[in-house]
Amino acid sequence: MTTLETVVVTARRGVRIVQFGPLRISYDQRVLEPRPWTALQSRWANQLIGTAAPGPVLELCSGAGQIGLLAVHGTDRRLVAVDANPVASAFHRINARAAGLEDQVEVRTSYLTDACAEDELFPMILADPPWVLRSQVDRFPDDPVRAIDGGEDGLDVARQCIDVINRHLDDDGVALVQVGDGPQVQQLADALPYGLVATEHRAEPGRGAVVKVVATEPRQRRLTGRGSGARG
Ligand SMILES: C[S@@+](CC[C@H](N)C(=O)[O-])C[C@H]1O[C@@H](n2cnc3c(N)ncnc32)[C@H](O)[C@@H]1O
Repeated sequence: MTTLETVVVTARRGVRIVQFGPLRISYDQRVLEPRPWTALQSRWANQLIGTAAPGPVLELCSGAGQIGLLAVHGTDRRLVAVDANPVASAFHRINARAAGLEDQVEVRTSYLTDACAEDELFPMILADPPWVLRSQVDRFPDDPVRAIDGGEDGLDVARQCIDVINRHLDDDGVALVQVGDGPQVQQLADALPYGLVATEHRAEPGRGAVVKVVATEPRQRRLTGRGSGARG
């Protein structure tokens, strides 16, 4: 079937295809090239999905879609994927279709802070924000700046993801957040709001890390804060 996305994407030269686990992922230079090590995040999510509460998986900063698609591959979970780049969304839809997952996947082209309705809740949230320090973005001339620029300390968009996670992670939910390795793991853990705790991280040395964040308080208490309503 020829769709608008297919036309937009294939009308340009330079569409590349990479294998990501069992999935064939299409992309071009307008989105971040899939990084093989990030399959770690997908596989971890895929394991956790088995025991997660019912409901869809939310993926923030999804790019061409490979991390979320591999996470839900082989399960019947719905995936809601969010990226601000419309080209990324187009590739995501194409890649979902190629994986036979189009009926499970909803792609939203949106800034992550605006992507979810107030009352939308997810038992699992994945986040793959840009995390390169702005001062080091020039070291990666082949990567689209908006896909890698994490601001001064590399965590500007990651902090936005944590805010979305706090508002939309269901009670007893779990999130997997990608950051750079080293200090960013601790910085992220230290910055978590009341009711969210980092319990574990898995790293690919020299590449990046994935931090597991769990909700230790019901959403209502997380949002109202430690003091108010705590005795209710
Ligand atoms: C590090 S890339 C990850 C892409 C993909 N998950 C991957 O691993 O290839 C970050 C993605 O976040 C998107 N992004 C950056 N800031 C965003 C924001 N404020 N809201 C939504 N998406 C954003 C970029 O367009 C980019 O696709």
